[in-house]
Amino acid sequence: MWLCLAALVGLYYLVRWYRERQVVSHLRDKYVFITGCDSGFGNLLARQLDMRGLRVLAACLTEKGAEELRTQTSDRLETVSLDVTKTESISAAAQWVKERVGDRGLWGLVNNAGISSPFGCNEWLTKQDFVTVLEVNLLGMIEVTLSLLPLVRKARGRVVNVSSVVGRLSLVGGGYSISKHGVEAFSDSLRRELAPFGVKVVVIEPGSFKTNMTNTERVLQQVQEGWNRARPEIKELYGEKFLSSYLKLLSEHVLPSAEENLSEVTDCMEHALTACHPRTRYSAGWDAKLFYLPMSYMPTFLADAILTWILPRPAKAL
Ligand SMILES: *[C@@H]1O[C@H](CO)[C@@H](O)[C@H](O)[C@H]1NC(C)=O
Ligand SMILES: *[C@@H]1O[C@H](CO)[C@@H](O)[C@H](O)[C@H]1NC(C)=O
Ligand SMILES: *[C@@H]1O[C@H](CO)[C@@H](O)[C@H](O)[C@H]1NC(C)=O
Repeated sequence: MWLCLAALVGLYYLVRWYRERQVVSHLRDKYVFITGCDSGFGNLLARQLDMRGLRVLAACLTEKGAEELRTQTSDRLETVSLDVTKTESISAAAQWVKERVGDRGLWGLVNNAGISSPFGCNEWLTKQDFVTVLEVNLLGMIEVTLSLLPLVRKARGRVVNVSSVVGRLSLVGGGYSISKHGVEAFSDSLRRELAPFGVKVVVIEPGSFKTNMTNTERVLQQVQEGWNRARPEIKELYGEKFLSSYLKLLSEHVLPSAEENLSEVTDCMEHALTACHPRTRYSAGWDAKLFYLPMSYMPTFLADAILTWILPRPAKAL
C-alpha cells in the first residue's frame, strides 16, 4: 500500500514536471508589458525576457531608470514612462502599448510596480499613510489591468501579479500587507472570469529579497518618521524601548535575511509567461517556503502565539 502511494506521488511529480517543461511557441512575436522596471524584479525580468527574444515593453517611473535599461538591452526593448497613481499616465501608456502590439494583442501583463512604506504599527499611522501604499500597489494595479485587459484578451495572454507572502500573513501594520491581500483577493475572481476567454491569471508570492523596497536605511527611517508623527499618548503606550526593539528586529533579523538572488523570483515570472501550463501561484524564497506559508496554514492561535513571541511588547501592555 505504501509502495502504491509512493508510486502515485512519483507519477504526479513526473507528469507535473513534463507539463511544466512545455514552452509556448513563437516567443519572438510576443509582447510583454512590465510595470516598475526602474529597479528590482521588474528591471531584471525586462532584461531576462529581452535576452530570451520576447518583445518587452518596459514601463519606468523615472527617465533615468528607462535610459539605463535601454543601454543594457537590445533595440527590441522599448520603454515608456508610467506613474500608476495617475489616470492620464496610465491611459497614455495603454495607448502607446496598443499602437505597438496592433492586432496581435498583448501576450503578457506583469503588474510589478510597488512600494512598501510607510509602515509600522497601525496605530502610529494616519489614513493618508495607508492611502499612499494602496494607491500604488492596489488601485494603480487595478487601473493598469483594466486598461490593458482588452489587449491581453486579444492575444489570449497572461496577467501576472506580484503579490507577496505577506498577502497571506500580515507581520506588520500599514498598507503593504493590506494591498497584497487585496491582490490575492482579486486573483480568485479574475482567474475564473478570464478563463472562458483563454486568459490565464497567475500570482507570484516572493518572500523578502534585496530590492529598493528592503533598503535598510530607508525602511528604518520611514518607520522612525511614522513613530515621530504618532500622537504622544500612543507613544506613551508603546514606549521608546518598543520602538528600538522593533527597529532592531527589522535591521538585525528581517532585512539582512532578504535574499540577494532576484532570479528566483524572475524565473517564476518567466515560467508564468513562457510555459504552456503555468502554475496559478508561485512562491519564491526560503522564508516564503519555510516560514510564511507554513505559518499561514497554521491555526490562528498558534500563529498568533509565535508572532507575539517574536514581536516586542508595548510598555503599557497588561
Ligand atoms: C525606491 O523607493 C523609494 C521610497 O520607497 C521611492 O521614492 C523611489 O521612487 C524608489 N525608486 C525606484 C527606482 O523605484
Ligand atoms: C491582479 O491585479 C489586478 C488589479 O489589482 C486584479 O484585477 C487581478 O484580479 C489580479 N490578479 C491576480 C492573479 O492577483
Ligand atoms: C539564482 O537563482 C537561480 C534560479 O533559482 C539559479 O538558477 C541560479 O544559479 C542562482 N544564482 C546564484 C548566484 O545563486
